[in-house]
Amino acid sequence: MKRKLLDYLCCPACAVRLDLTEVVVTEGEEIMQGRLGCAVCKSVFPIVRGVPRFVSSELLQADKAATAESFGWQWQHFTHTDELYGDQFLGWIAPVEPNFFHNKIVLEGGCGKGRHTELAARWGAREVVGVDLSSAVETAFAATRNLENAHIVQADLYHLPLARVFDYAFSVGVLHHLPDPRAGFRSLASRVKPGGHLSVWVYGAENNGWITRYINPVRKVTSRIDQRTLLQASKFPAALMYLATKLVYGPLNRGVGGRELASHLFYNDYLNAISKFGWREQHTIVFDHLVAPTSHYISREEFAEWWNDVHASEVQIGWHNSNSWRGFGKI
Ligand SMILES: C[S@@+](CC[C@H](N)C(=O)[O-])C[C@H]1O[C@@H](n2cnc3c(N)ncnc32)[C@H](O)[C@@H]1O
Repeated sequence: MKRKLLDYLCCPACAVRLDLTEVVVTEGEEIMQGRLGCAVCKSVFPIVRGVPRFVSSELLQADKAATAESFGWQWQHFTHTDELYGDQFLGWIAPVEPNFFHNKIVLEGGCGKGRHTELAARWGAREVVGVDLSSAVETAFAATRNLENAHIVQADLYHLPLARVFDYAFSVGVLHHLPDPRAGFRSLASRVKPGGHLSVWVYGAENNGWITRYINPVRKVTSRIDQRTLLQASKFPAALMYLATKLVYGPLNRGVGGRELASHLFYNDYLNAISKFGWREQHTIVFDHLVAPTSHYISREEFAEWWNDVHASEVQIGWHNSNSWRGFGKI
């Protein structure tokens, strides 16, 4: 943890700034082991392996813990990066462009292995704080510790230990995994200062009826399987998707005259987008779909209500890859 993160942290219960009460081990700028304390309620939060931890056993209510634990293992296994992540990220947060990050104080809700926290830092954010509930923070910390403007915090989106100081917050692929996605959205928005912006990307209800009907029951089983076993088992559906995208969807969509034909294929926009990725990323995507015990599919109508709830203005809602909603608005 870099000392300047103290400017953004606050007690999740009392909302007052935290004190750095003990520093045990440092490595360069990083406090690797130490303690943070709240002068009001006397709560103590440890800094372990460079990451301030705000996750207590009471906070980890069963369903949230299961989701986070699944992802924690996933992001510690799939630690690779991909040169396509930048474009993919921009697709999820459009109309935001890299220069939008310049000099902004940025929050990422549910940073996983830290790939987008890293991009935001590289794209010129003044500071970026990536928060995740799971042990994925270990990977995120390793990926970003050398960036002087990147910070990783282990905490729950519903109880963010952060002040309302952010110029921009974003969350991609996270809220639909929460037991109450709308409450997660409100919590994220509550840390954006008035006039700041928010981007969120979630699975859409529209066009995904087949997933809720056929894949959700499968997921109820696969999310309970030991993850090493699931890793092997998920190679079979991943291989089918990989072959379909590499042999059919990709070539047809990119070939002369093939686009019209491809537009009639099942789930074409999404599978075409995925076709650019190699095996490892496609395997991650399939594993990701099978490992999460909770997944909500959000209709456009409901998504628009979320933005109304927080009185956002200039809201732009876009349909992404014909299967998901991305939103951008001013708080
Ligand atoms: C599908 S991953 C997406 C990660 C990252 N946004 C990305 O696109 O690479 C969902 C992430 O949300 C995190 N998560 C789930 N519930 C959470 C919660 N209540 N608070 C914070 N993070 C949470 C998981 O641990 C996981 O890393």
